[in-house]
Amino acid sequence: MNPDLNLLHPYPFEKLAQLKAGIEPPAGLAHIALSIGEPKHEPPQFVLETLSRNLNRVSNYPATKGLPELRQAIARWATERFQLAGNELDPETQVLPVNGTREALFAFAQAIVDRTAERPLVVSPNPFYQIYEGAALLAGADIAFLNCTAENGYIPNFSEVDPTIWRDCQLLYLCSPGNPTGAVLTLEHWRVLLDLADQYDFVIASDECYSELYFDEAEPPMGLLQACRALGRRDFSRCVVFHSLSKRSNLPGLRSGFVAGDAAVLAEFLRYRTYHGCAMPVPSQLASIAAWEDEVHVRANRTLYRQKFDAVLKILDGCLEVEKPEAGFYLWPRTPMDSETFARELFAQQNITVLPGNYLARATDVGNPGEHHVRMALVASLEECIEAAKRIRVFMEQF
Ligand SMILES: Cc1ncc(COP(=O)(O)O)c(C=O)c1O
Repeated sequence: MNPDLNLLHPYPFEKLAQLKAGIEPPAGLAHIALSIGEPKHEPPQFVLETLSRNLNRVSNYPATKGLPELRQAIARWATERFQLAGNELDPETQVLPVNGTREALFAFAQAIVDRTAERPLVVSPNPFYQIYEGAALLAGADIAFLNCTAENGYIPNFSEVDPTIWRDCQLLYLCSPGNPTGAVLTLEHWRVLLDLADQYDFVIASDECYSELYFDEAEPPMGLLQACRALGRRDFSRCVVFHSLSKRSNLPGLRSGFVAGDAAVLAEFLRYRTYHGCAMPVPSQLASIAAWEDEVHVRANRTLYRQKFDAVLKILDGCLEVEKPEAGFYLWPRTPMDSETFARELFAQQNITVLPGNYLARATDVGNPGEHHVRMALVASLEECIEAAKRIRVFMEQF
């Protein structure tokens, strides 16, 4: 077997299952899961109809590059959303469909990492989406973590990172809006990062799968391509963004997203993907076109999240150290005890599952930046989220 498989850490949900094992929560309280980041709002009916109307198209092998119509719809969407006019994405060379960002984020490292370098290195935020680490390790790279803490506003000070890290870095993963912190990178962050990427010659993989879940309709989070455009970069060199219909359109089971950016990088990524064998089925591509071409359902989706954040934060006000995130669907409160004790006790007393923050981060020489946090995903219904917040309030009152 590939010995690198032994480097993979148990997935956070395996650790969570162990943490909860043998505990009997009160039978009178229904279980509420705030632990999993799976969207639970209704998927748009017209997308499901498009999917079922086109099921007969499974009789064709799909092309890895996807239908031109899909790439065109994506390019139009991204151009509009990220204000790329004048520097539009070329659907022929700068867009590829992917089967959700998870597989794309993993596959990307396999295509990018040069194992023959002295120290192939992938750099990741910490805490982070676990796929970045697994992707790096199975690509034969080492991984360096940049801590995201309350002190730095959950965004590392990139210009203070040891230059030897940047010297070895081949691929930098970023997540904006961040999972689990909700922090959003600004143009100034991107300017610093793009200068570093040029200076040290690395690729930036910007995971933007939460970009459409924000609170102020007038201020959507900035994306990396938008930053490139705003900074006057004529192409998207060294930059690839990852987008998804999972959260935007409540279609996590469709497995549909896209990557866009640097044409030279995407040409090689396409070559990799042709062998990897991850073409999107044609019915899913046609359903995806319908989803990318509609914003009405996405605005309705945001309204639902806004209601939940407002209601839950009102109830938690004063009893838990928690802030409204800039975007996304997670709360990342500080816990008055270690993360695991908090999660275990909350489950034991109130039958609510949250994810210990330390499971989403790795220990560094200044500690584990996820410690003393838990992640709460506000994905359940408004009523369930309100019920959960009330029970958390009761739980907190004993401290
Ligand atoms: C930060 C982040 N990136 C990527 C994904 C993967 O999403 P999908 O594969 O559904 O696009 C998730 C899913 O939870 C996530 O939280």
